[in-house]
Amino acid sequence: MTIQAIHVDKVTAGFGPVNILHEVDLQFPAGGRIAVIGRNGVGKTTLLKAIMGLADIHSGRIRLFGQDITRLSARERAHAGIGYVPQTRDIFPSLTVEENLVTGLKGRPRSDIAEAYDMFPRLAERRRNGGAQLSGGEQQMLTVARTLLGKPRVLLLDEPLEGLAPIICHELMRTFDTMARATGVTVVLVEQKVDDALRFTTDAVVLERGEVVYRSDSGELAQRQDLLERYVGVAGDAHA
Ligand SMILES: Nc1ncnc2c1ncn2[C@@H]1O[C@H](COP(=O)(O)OP(=O)(O)O)[C@@H](O)[C@H]1O
Ligand SMILES: [Mg+2]
Repeated sequence: MTIQAIHVDKVTAGFGPVNILHEVDLQFPAGGRIAVIGRNGVGKTTLLKAIMGLADIHSGRIRLFGQDITRLSARERAHAGIGYVPQTRDIFPSLTVEENLVTGLKGRPRSDIAEAYDMFPRLAERRRNGGAQLSGGEQQMLTVARTLLGKPRVLLLDEPLEGLAPIICHELMRTFDTMARATGVTVVLVEQKVDDALRFTTDAVVLERGEVVYRSDSGELAQRQDLLERYVGVAGDAHA
């Protein structure tokens, strides 16, 4: 039987009394890579927040490797093994790359930073640079590297490619690929850059108005230009 890293079990969730997600039922297998696709405002970020404990769950359950974490706080979920990289790149601009990484150690020895540099050699080159001096792609590497130092079992990435040039996107996805292979972490990738997202992942989920409207393997969805046009508004971004 496949072990599910995350089970979003018929979850209705939102903020305060407002429901954004409606009976969303999804299972993300351990070690898998899942793309979550959909237009602006359909609830992709809310889905990640519901998993992370940053949204209000009105009904349903969130399970992490079988454990019911629905009632746990975001901090407790982080401790249980969920790493969340929000849509905003929240690095500390006045700290150096290395100092930023130190903030992700959570009590682990400083020497563990070497793991981050192994996975992202670019950050090693930039270790003494200030966060504000980094390019957008490097800032994204830094947020991901810092989150990985917490040794998450599941990594939630919210539009890491947003605002980055295509060539940087490809480079970043390559480093993510290396990272995912090296760590075996389960990755849930929310992304509007559909071609990159589908190339990196094995499974895809499409959301529309807070509901799951399609799911298949990523290669299959990449072939379905009709669906991509209907649900994302682009016929893939390969020719953009
Ligand atoms: N904190 C919030 N309070 C109330 N409504 C919100 C909040 N965050 C997002 N929303 C609303 O929830 C819907 C889904 O938002 P979001 O999950 O951010 O979509 P996506 O990430 O797919 O663009 C939108 O209509 C948005 O306006
Ligand atoms: Mg979003």
